[in-house]
Amino acid sequence: MKSSTTRLDRFISQHSIYSISDTRLLVAQKRIIVDGEAAHSTHQKVTQFMHVELDGHSLQDNKPIYIMLNKPQGIVSATKDSKHTTVLDLIDHPQKDELHIVGRLDFNTTGLVLLTNDGAWSRQISLPETKLAKVYEVTLSKPVTEEYITVFKEGIYFGYENITTKPAHLEIVSEYQARLSLVEGKYHQVKRMFGFFQNEVLALHRVSVGHLSVAGLESGQYREFSID
Ligand code: URA
Repeated sequence: MKSSTTRLDRFISQHSIYSISDTRLLVAQKRIIVDGEAAHSTHQKVTQFMHVELDGHSLQDNKPIYIMLNKPQGIVSATKDSKHTTVLDLIDHPQKDELHIVGRLDFNTTGLVLLTNDGAWSRQISLPETKLAKVYEVTLSKPVTEEYITVFKEGIYFGYENITTKPAHLEIVSEYQARLSLVEGKYHQVKRMFGFFQNEVLALHRVSVGHLSVAGLESGQYREFSID
């Protein structure tokens, strides 16, 4: 029987969140292990019988898994952490070591976290061009006013990245509560947007990503779903 063979960089792009061009750095950082040895080239051959690991997680061609979790406060959006409980620690699944996180939440942010072993899917939904709405419920330290709606719609300049945030939709729920819909996920984006008004975010909860909603999941609960 002929074994299927592919190049390492292609394999990585198909089985993780990283792209073909990211693979060069991953190889240099010795983060990819092929059959027990650090990968030496982005072009090296990978066959179906080889075992490939990235950051200690197996990337074999198993069935795709999609999990949504309602992340509690005080949990790290990482697959490994020496000090704190991670989102992966909350999941009991035979293939959990293959999973990666799609769109991290801060330590104290609660709500929807997606995990999968399907790199093509996670890349697709993370692309800004896909324009998938990520909806957050925000509790603030100062009253939120109508002015925020206009400013968030126009975009806020983030000097560090030298970008202006994409138009965001804000709905005022009550004096100290709002619902914000973003189509991108910059570092601490929600807190920085309210930071523009020196308005501290006291609580942040991600309700949904596209049509995937955390509704019905208790804090710390998760469920598998399918994408078709
Ligand atoms: N924006 C933030 O500031 N924190 C999150 O956890 C998610 C979005």
